Amino acid sequence: MRLEATVKRLKSLMQAFDTFYKGTADVLICAPGRINIIGGHTDYNEGFVLPMAIDLNIMFAVRARNDGLVDFFSLNLHDSAHFYLERVELRSTPQWAQYVQGVAWALMRAGYQIGGLEGVIHSTVPVGAGLSSSAALEVAAAWAWNVLYNLHIPREEIARIAQRAEVEFVGVPCGIMDQFTVAVAKRGHVIRLDCRDLSYSLHPFGREVRFVACDTNVRRTLASSEYAVRREQCNEAVERLSSALPHIRALRDVTLEDLERHRHLLSDVLYRRARHVITENERVLKAVHALSRKDFVALGRLLNESHRSLREDYEVSSPELDTMWQAANEVDGCYGARLTGAGFGGNVIALVHRDALRSFLTYVSRRYREQTGRIATLRPVRPEEGVATV
Ligand code: GLA
Repeated sequence: MRLEATVKRLKSLMQAFDTFYKGTADVLICAPGRINIIGGHTDYNEGFVLPMAIDLNIMFAVRARNDGLVDFFSLNLHDSAHFYLERVELRSTPQWAQYVQGVAWALMRAGYQIGGLEGVIHSTVPVGAGLSSSAALEVAAAWAWNVLYNLHIPREEIARIAQRAEVEFVGVPCGIMDQFTVAVAKRGHVIRLDCRDLSYSLHPFGREVRFVACDTNVRRTLASSEYAVRREQCNEAVERLSSALPHIRALRDVTLEDLERHRHLLSDVLYRRARHVITENERVLKAVHALSRKDFVALGRLLNESHRSLREDYEVSSPELDTMWQAANEVDGCYGARLTGAGFGGNVIALVHRDALRSFLTYVSRRYREQTGRIATLRPVRPEEGVATV
């Protein structure tokens, strides 16, 4: 079934390419979405995260052009966009296409010699759902230029360029986790990433459990959300704490004891924001340990603690996310769950024993509908490869 669906998808991608641009594409690129197992809102605090790429992805059939025009079509949106590389700073494209434009801008600013391209995009990563559809698009675009123009850009650098596109061109002040995961992930593994220096290690993820991405089908846009406010609050907490702790550069450097000792320097809100980040970093390290021991009970408990901390201290959950989280935890064989991504909507991820998968899907969809009147979309996901030429 999965193979059939992929073949069908590839066929329509190729057909669309021929319709719009005549002939065949030079390359076909596949860039995955991601879930973050644990480490919510720690990346921009120079902390730790534990994400994995998933088997929902963007496919980009693309060919080089020699006239400096970048022209592409989205099969999902039935919308096309184009811009000239010499006028890239104009932000002239529709919102969805600015991620591609931003990547062209970031590549040129980094000194890479790129030329035009044309291509068709198709995505199975839901938009605004916390599964990194934007990072998948950015990294797919960066990879397209990398391959078509033989740029030999290392994967870590692709991640940095894609992040710069999002922060400085599109204007969403995100951390590095999403782009890094999409660029660097390995099939069957999760990534323990230190967002301070981008050092990372890959850890195998067993087959006895599955993550299920439980979509509330409530959307948010990151740019207009509270995300930027949270970042500022973290910076302010660091600034205030550094009057007593001059060595700190980020919340990553603050221990829970430090925080308690100097609590009087912070308002209640800043204290709780900092407490989330500090305890979440500890949870990531414990989660890596639990995973290596295949201790899914311990891992599930950490996921639940993370969700509570994001809900109460960081305040980025929503009624629908909490309902989904609760429903997931009511199923025997579900070890734990948490919201993933920025929050305020989108997905909860649940860690489920393989044998309980069927009952999990049935129970959680019914329960979520009963309690919210909305339809959930539940997607069991597997750890996938990062961006690749197919
Ligand atoms: C979004 C951002 C990431 C990260 C998460 C929260 O996905 O793009 O950089 O900050 O939110 O963990």
